[in-house]
Amino acid sequence: MQSLLEQLKKSVSEALVSAFGTELTSSAPLVVPASNPKFGDYQSNVALSLPKKLKIAPRSIAEKIVENLKVDNFCETPTIAGPGFINFTIKPTYLATQLTTIQTDNRLGIEPVRSPQRIIVDYPSPNVAKEMHVGHLRSAIIGDCLARILEFVGHDVLRISHIGDWGTPFGMLIAYLKEAYPEALTTTEELNLGELSTFYRQAKKRFDEDENFREAARLSVVQLQAGDRETLLAWKIVCELSSRSYQKIYDLMGLSPEIEARGESFYNPFLPEIVTELEKLGLLEESDGAKCVFLEDFTNREGEPLPLIVQKSDGGYNYATTDLAAIRYRVNVDKVQQVIYPVGSEQRSHFAQIFQVGKRAGWITENHQFIHAYFGLVLGEDGTKLKTRSGEAIKLKELLDKAITLARKDLETRLQQEEREETEEFIDRVSQVVGISAVKYADLSQNRTSDYKFSYQKMLALQGNTAPYLLYAYVRVQGISRKGNIDFTKLTTDTQILLQEATEITLAKHILQLGEVITEVEKDLLPNRLCQYLFELSQKFNQFYDRCPILQADEPSRTSRLVLADLTARTIKLGLSLLGISVIERM
Ligand code: ARG
Repeated sequence: MQSLLEQLKKSVSEALVSAFGTELTSSAPLVVPASNPKFGDYQSNVALSLPKKLKIAPRSIAEKIVENLKVDNFCETPTIAGPGFINFTIKPTYLATQLTTIQTDNRLGIEPVRSPQRIIVDYPSPNVAKEMHVGHLRSAIIGDCLARILEFVGHDVLRISHIGDWGTPFGMLIAYLKEAYPEALTTTEELNLGELSTFYRQAKKRFDEDENFREAARLSVVQLQAGDRETLLAWKIVCELSSRSYQKIYDLMGLSPEIEARGESFYNPFLPEIVTELEKLGLLEESDGAKCVFLEDFTNREGEPLPLIVQKSDGGYNYATTDLAAIRYRVNVDKVQQVIYPVGSEQRSHFAQIFQVGKRAGWITENHQFIHAYFGLVLGEDGTKLKTRSGEAIKLKELLDKAITLARKDLETRLQQEEREETEEFIDRVSQVVGISAVKYADLSQNRTSDYKFSYQKMLALQGNTAPYLLYAYVRVQGISRKGNIDFTKLTTDTQILLQEATEITLAKHILQLGEVITEVEKDLLPNRLCQYLFELSQKFNQFYDRCPILQADEPSRTSRLVLADLTARTIKLGLSLLGISVIERM
């Protein structure tokens, strides 16, 4: 089903052709949602951008467009305001027909894209041997959401976790393993990642304080790269333990199970080729024994071009080289058209640099889009980087567990107040869903490019733009079905949907805008727009619910309102599922 916005855009562009003969290019978008409901539902400012081209006053252009518009099957007569804005209001009868159409559709009328692409979303990409910390929270949450949305609209999505599983930090870990736990090379049993994070800290301590140890660490890197058997075994032990530990976190968070771990080590065999290829292309230069590409538009303090080192003077490779190999592999082997990297904004220059080299090497062509979907920091309530009291990065597992515990407390208080008795199973399930969704939603509802303050209290609140508020709107609808013994799936499709009350019409319009919002998120990769949409939907539903009796209403209003309630709930459920959040029937 074409969205209302698309239908209007099509009508306006046809009206332009019939009014002025040729296809006019304009700097203004043809139609946008109205800035104020007072003016209608949608508006076109296109007339204001054409007077120079047409040598006619904007108001007259608007009049000509309106004369040629054929929208009376779905719009009230368009009006012209101010210097030449055209305002559109959708007819309630048309809204009703559209609702009837989507009622039988699981996708709620949202058609898949016409030209699906193959897209990699690179997330959550933690680093082995360090527990996932709050910094990876955003990559996991945003990446999972973007992957779900792109997949829903019909793209072929690969979820690739570019795990940091190679390189210098491993030298340190391997050296420490050999030094402190030589028995680990014969058994993996008593090691678990909890211990390993202590292990990591201890290794780091040794590394920081002892030059001989640093030398041993460097040697281990060389041995690892040379494929030394024992060193490789030590490496594997660390990798497997940590991967088991983050799988538990992925499960707890409800991330899509389709994440493929393809760590940095995967690209090792291709690194020498990257260097030779760049050399052949004439992009490589030597500087202090290192092989580098001198970057365009990146300069040091003296104004000289900055080098991107692809091979260090000791022959080793680094993060950038691996990412270049990943770019080439993703284009040539995975055959992607798009790669999205939801990674923190502190890596902006890294990505700008590797994309530049990828383009200059001819791997990234104009048929490819490589996007760093960067995000800001998670801050503590005091506005500084989120840390534990002792100043360490907060572990993701602890943060999620705490959200669940607090959700449980809230629930238990509410049950007491309402004198409700619920099973332990119910309490577990609700606290889990509410706790995890609150954390995810708090993250997704912020524009990802900015930092945000992490507040359990705010994210768990039943009021405001929070997951519990949306979940509650959904639960309210399910409550209607329980109370009235209504099977929503059996509401017949030939139901005449009646939209009379203002709150009904507003809600109906909003339901029909999901597709427009998803299209926007697909384009600009900002999930907060979907959150805002769902928040407003819940608000509009609550207003409708307060104003319009449903079970008590007479037919045909009763059935019509039930359909509206059901469509609201299904829209919330679908929208939340795209955010990676599941609903509950009661809470
Ligand atoms: N492992 C990196 C980190 O934790 C993130 C990797 C992001 N993906 C990439 N292709 N560079 O900082």
